[in-house]
Amino acid sequence: IYVPFSVDFLRSLFSRTLGLSPGEKVLDELTLDGVARYILSGKCKNIICMVGAGISTSAGIPDFRSPGTGLYANLQKYNLPYPEAIFQIDYFKKHPEPFFALARELYPGQFKPTVCHYFMRMLKDKGLLTRCYSQNIDTLERVAGLEGEDLIEAHGTFHTSHCVSFLCRKEYSMDWMKSTVLNAEISLLNYSHFVLLWMYFFLDIVFFGENLPARFFTTMKMDFPRCDLLIIMGTSLQVQPFASLVNRVSNSCPRLLINMEKTGQSEFGMGLFGFGGGMDFDSDKAYRDVAYLSTCDDGCMALAELLGWKAELEEMVKREHALIDSKDAKTKDKEANQSSRSTGAEAGKSDKTE
Ligand code: OAD
Repeated sequence: IYVPFSVDFLRSLFSRTLGLSPGEKVLDELTLDGVARYILSGKCKNIICMVGAGISTSAGIPDFRSPGTGLYANLQKYNLPYPEAIFQIDYFKKHPEPFFALARELYPGQFKPTVCHYFMRMLKDKGLLTRCYSQNIDTLERVAGLEGEDLIEAHGTFHTSHCVSFLCRKEYSMDWMKSTVLNAEISLLNYSHFVLLWMYFFLDIVFFGENLPARFFTTMKMDFPRCDLLIIMGTSLQVQPFASLVNRVSNSCPRLLINMEKTGQSEFGMGLFGFGGGMDFDSDKAYRDVAYLSTCDDGCMALAELLGWKAELEEMVKREHALIDSKDAKTKDKEANQSSRSTGAEAGKSDKTE
């Protein structure tokens, strides 16, 4: 009989799943201080950040599942059969309007990155960030300076769009999509539904029921085995396959969760189905997982302070926000000039016709 798994592989799978053989205890204390001392020891050089909607709430973008304030609790006006339907590919193909109405409300360009986004940028600048795996489509990681190789946008992004034709694959910019879809008076078009569906074929956003980008899977295999600190922020870890990434680091790799609530703890059956055992913050076997319950911004600032980076982080946030404000002011001036010129031209035209 051909057995496709080696005995070692099965042993390690079972012991990992059943929590029989914990890895080495790397942190001297399961606290934020312990994590900071580990970073400062110089033994930690490959940090991966896994993030979700909770890192952008302080920028003004709601998360999905927080009771009361989360997006899924506030979609009544779209008359959905259930809240997640708005991101469900089969529902979207029949009813694309709710998604686009929401996209118009949440479209990037109106929000600034948070302290937490800039903390990740500092990890990058200090040569400590292997990569940031994000579930967010708001592009704020990019605005904060994480780009290209720094970032995996696991659920896609508003940043780019592509033609789906294999022969074409032409890339379209965010501005193109914004002016074509979001500013269009779609409701006035007779064939609005078809227009919206057509636009979907361009968006680089992953809906429920669709595959994650191929890059997610290739980099994941490379990054997680050599990760020596996993920082998880602002996510309920409820959506697979993203959530199970926490189990892809080695048994000895410390995992720090900065979130308003504890997430990612093992659920009955998860391990048996191959998703691993989840996080363990509190049991008497806990040896590597730290939960710091606070906002992501406060947690990142507290960690920065312990690392001696607080002033630098504050300065970065101030400088980058001022830069964004000044760019916004220039764009607004330009738009105001253009609209006053076109109003002038219109007035001129009507003068001549009178
Ligand atoms: P969720 O809304 O499921 O979880 C956000 C988490 O962040 C919750 O645990 C909150 O308690 C926490 N949180 C909120 N604000 C916070 C703050 N300021 N500081 C710290 N924690 C905060 O969002 P995600 O986990 O990102 O998928 O959701 C995952 C996926 O589900 C999304 O990418 C989206 C959604 O359906 C698709 O659209 C495919």
